[in-house]
Amino acid sequence: MLRSGTDEIQDVNGELLDFMDDMIETMILAPGIGLAAPQVGSSLRVFVMNTEEGKFDKIINPKILKTDGMESFNEGCLSFPQLFADVVRPEWIQVQYINEDGEEVVRESEGLWARCFLHEFDHLEGKLFVDYLSKKQLRQMKEELAQIEAVGLTQNS
Ligand code: CO
Repeated sequence: MLRSGTDEIQDVNGELLDFMDDMIETMILAPGIGLAAPQVGSSLRVFVMNTEEGKFDKIINPKILKTDGMESFNEGCLSFPQLFADVVRPEWIQVQYINEDGEEVVRESEGLWARCFLHEFDHLEGKLFVDYLSKKQLRQMKEELAQIEAVGLTQNS
């Protein structure tokens, strides 16, 4: 599922918004600041974000129009619990998507909202943050993973 890509939404209806509310709940419980449909076994082209306290974004059919700059940031992913790595991504983005009211939005952003958008967008394309890592970073991650397995997931918060 994480690798298979997604299908565009044709109709923003109550069923879709309910599903995205469930995604928001899952994201909060995880806890995380972003969750894409493929991470919950769905091929819908949607994701949700919570990069600012009390503010939730429902992002439908996103497109990246323009990017600028490059920036390294320590990222994690709910599909890879407890693994973090520095990932280089554009620092500024101009994106287009459909919001929960079914309106087409164009937004320019940088900082955490942009970072999270790019990470979740990748999930819709079947791309994962580990794909960006160098061999050295992957080796390091393998060691961390072995440690996590040795200790057991439940003993880590
Ligand atoms: Co992720």
